[in-house]
Amino acid sequence: MNDLMNLLKERRTYRRFCQKPISEEILAEILTAARYASSAANKQPLSYVVVKTPQKVQEVFAETKWAAYLPKEQGQPKAGEEPVLFIGVVQNLKINPNCDTDAGLAISNMTLAAWNHGVGSCIIGACNRQKLSELFGLTEDQKLHTVVAFGYPSHISRIENVEKDGDIRYHLDEDGNYVVPKRNLEDVVTCI
Ligand SMILES: Cc1cc2nc3c(=O)[nH]c(=O)nc-3n(C[C@H](O)[C@H](O)[C@H](O)COP(=O)(O)O)c2cc1C
Repeated sequence: MNDLMNLLKERRTYRRFCQKPISEEILAEILTAARYASSAANKQPLSYVVVKTPQKVQEVFAETKWAAYLPKEQGQPKAGEEPVLFIGVVQNLKINPNCDTDAGLAISNMTLAAWNHGVGSCIIGACNRQKLSELFGLTEDQKLHTVVAFGYPSHISRIENVEKDGDIRYHLDEDGNYVVPKRNLEDVVTCI
């Protein structure tokens, strides 16, 4: 149980990566974790586009936005810090057009399975869906939900407690590591 809680605590968002490839075994586990996720009515409307060749990774990277709370020169991965893998999460609109919860669960499983092997991730909602849909060859029945970036992180990311009504914006410490303020339980839990 402690292992699980540590995995949950340390599976943070990472935005700078070593240029070390992710093995096929780990990639297979990440995708299998998505397959294991719960799905409303077990409809399973999601499919996954794997982007792993350096050329294609660069093409996808060019259509993504990073760390909106930080100035670009701090939040955007620089050359040599980019992710080494993207996975596009694609909805099949005919199977279920409203599958945000399915997508969230699949993304959560993938990022946890990755972190279990020390592979960090960043969920990317801010991306050019039109361009990426073309790049991924999506049909009119398909819609790009989210892309997730993966790689071995070259920085640390840690949680700090934030007081009620405090500043929830993540920031960098003096060593360039991410600090992620999380609200305290007593501020988000009500017992009735
Ligand atoms: C739905 C969703 C969309 C996100 N989109 C982006 C994004 O476009 N770019 C980015 O750098 N981070 C993105 N993030 C990462 C969040 O900024 C991050 O989860 C948040 O700051 C909390 O950090 P943590 O994941 O370490 O808890 C996204 C996260 C979620 C859940």
